Amino acid sequence: MDKQKLIINGGRKTEGEISVHGAKNAALPLLAATVLIKDGECIIHNCPRLTDVDAALRILSHIGVRCRRDGSTVISNAAAVANFEIPVSMMREMRSSIVFLGAVLGRAGRCRMSYPGGCELGPRPIDLHLSALRSMGAVIEESHGFLDCTAPKGLFGSNISLSFPSVGATENIMLAAVTAEGVTEIHNAAKEPEICDLSAFLVSCGAEISGAGTDTVLIRGGKKLHGCEYSVMPDRIATVTYLCCAAVTGGELVLTGADISHIGAVIPVFRQMGCRVYSFGNDSIYINAPQSLRAPHTVRTMPYPGFPTDAQAPLMAVCTVADGTTVFVENIFDNRYRHVSELLRMGAQIKTEGRVAVVQGVRQLSAAELVSPDLRGGASLVIAALAAEGTSTIGGTAHIDRGYESIENALRSVGADIKRI
Ligand code: UD1
Repeated sequence: MDKQKLIINGGRKTEGEISVHGAKNAALPLLAATVLIKDGECIIHNCPRLTDVDAALRILSHIGVRCRRDGSTVISNAAAVANFEIPVSMMREMRSSIVFLGAVLGRAGRCRMSYPGGCELGPRPIDLHLSALRSMGAVIEESHGFLDCTAPKGLFGSNISLSFPSVGATENIMLAAVTAEGVTEIHNAAKEPEICDLSAFLVSCGAEISGAGTDTVLIRGGKKLHGCEYSVMPDRIATVTYLCCAAVTGGELVLTGADISHIGAVIPVFRQMGCRVYSFGNDSIYINAPQSLRAPHTVRTMPYPGFPTDAQAPLMAVCTVADGTTVFVENIFDNRYRHVSELLRMGAQIKTEGRVAVVQGVRQLSAAELVSPDLRGGASLVIAALAAEGTSTIGGTAHIDRGYESIENALRSVGADIKRI
């Protein structure tokens, strides 16, 4: 049971500089990919210190990948992978551990893991992952909550059309396909920057992949893979979260180690609200927010390059104090408004109906005792508490620690009154 709480005394501007950590959603598939590398070490820089990453490192150790961490660098050696079974406890720790399926199957020709089941965002089906792997020669038995996968005749290239551009399915197919015989084509592939990062990492290891970042990815399997040195891309959702912290407090921040090209659908929303946002130098973003924000009209979450579902909750917290009404339409997950009931406790005015949430901005939120419902929902409560009058407490910090490297230190360094107890 997570007993820690964040205590936030709202009403202070966030001003200064925050260095954005590496992307959780890129680091996890990259770490899974290291399973495939029989020859040499992988040196992965900018690997964020997050509990989800720790969980991935525990899975790697369990299956025989030797890993050590030195600051934000992880060094892995998968020469001695001996285990192809991932215990239930490890699968439960992190739902996205399904990304190990393609990698372990590709490396060992078999894999046994528990079915990831539902999560706080609602059911997380993996039908697209499984049907794609089956078309590549995998035999997958699903029984008693377990997936037993083998590739009796080896994996072979396949022509796959995804009915939805699933990020995890695209990654799993890529991971399995680099070891398969022949060419795999993924049509309607996810185009997220994390897919490009995985592709670039695998290419650095000797794989032949083209088209990552477009809707058709081609993988020529069977290349000999070797270790490499690679740096994980910046976390685009942490970037948006810190932009939200500046916006909601009328603050001014410089985010370093960030990439504005990954958040192209989000920047116009900040500008509509009256913020000045631009990039400068190689990897910095500047934001200056006005005292009072204009509400953006409509925010629809979409697969990349559309507005990211992971940024919906953080942005909603900002809209609760903007001048006007914002309509949110959540198109990716069924159950992604669990932060709303907590925001209501702070005096926000929000109505939800299915996939739609209508936010009517109020002049001021008031502090409350809150519980993070999930990772990005937790971040939205932190953002709201920064703007609220009084001292809020936020429980369920374990959710937040899955995706933000010491959020309290980052925000305290830019003037927020926040501590963890
Ligand atoms: C990844 C991200 C998550 C982000 C999401 C959407 C990681 C570790 N997580 O999750 O933060 O919110 O992308 O950008 O990278 N679906 C199916 N069948 C499947 C697979 C998915 O129906 O086999 C549905 C899901 O239920 C969901 C939608 O497709 O409604 C998107 O899921 P997907 O793109 O697969 O998200 P994840 O890879 O799980």
